[in-house]
Amino acid sequence: MSQLSAIGVSRTYQRGSEIIRAVDDVTLHLEPGVVTVLQGPSGSGKTTLLNLLAGWERPDAGHIEWEGTDRDPSGLGWTDLSVVPQRVGLLSELSAIENVTLAARVRHEATDLDGLFARFGLEELEHAFPDELSAGQQQRVAITRALADRPAVVLVDEPTSSQDEENAHLVLGEFRRLASEGGTCLIASHDPIALDYANRVIRMRDGRLEGD
Ligand SMILES: Nc1ncnc2c1ncn2[C@@H]1O[C@H](COP(=O)(O)OP(=O)(O)OP(=O)(O)O)[C@@H](O)[C@H]1O
Ligand SMILES: [Mg+2]
Repeated sequence: MSQLSAIGVSRTYQRGSEIIRAVDDVTLHLEPGVVTVLQGPSGSGKTTLLNLLAGWERPDAGHIEWEGTDRDPSGLGWTDLSVVPQRVGLLSELSAIENVTLAARVRHEATDLDGLFARFGLEELEHAFPDELSAGQQQRVAITRALADRPAVVLVDEPTSSQDEENAHLVLGEFRRLASEGGTCLIASHDPIALDYANRVIRMRDGRLEGD
């Protein structure tokens, strides 16, 4: 069964007098155990589609289903659905480790990081604040934050945009691992390296999916 689906979703923006069909009647089913890579030119609607799937934006038409049931995904917890935003989105007043463990602390739970900080080359940087980290390090903290609670679904926006090749393989390998343990991954990426980690590749153009 599909874990997370977009059913005929559309999202239109208005910029001045211009109407932009950022996502135009998209149906997409994401299955457990699968890494889906979403490709498409800049402005084709990848981030908007991820935001609709996360419930961070509301569709103008269509709906989102969770485990086959019509559901607003914004009400899901971080263990069900986590996100790596394109703009990373760390809280500047919290250290790296505090950012990563925040969702669990809100649930009054501890986080088992399973060595993720060390695997991502961040072991000396747990107590650094975001503005003390490089862009690539900040992005790896955001990826650690998304993976720390072993979510059922992770929605990932350009996870290698600030990574060198070695770190790109490291982070993509972790999404592969989550999927091999039954997780569901959607990765929007321009990076050809991401294709090596995909079970499925879909392309987006002008707000529409072009087929698998
Ligand atoms: N808040 C907004 N208001 C107006 N237009 C927007 C808004 N957000 C996105 N858009 C427009 O919607 C379209 C899709 O944007 P989106 O960010 O989803 O593209 P993308 O495929 O993620 O691009 P990139 O590869 O550059 O990240 C673009 O034309 C963009 O200018
Ligand atoms: Mg984008």
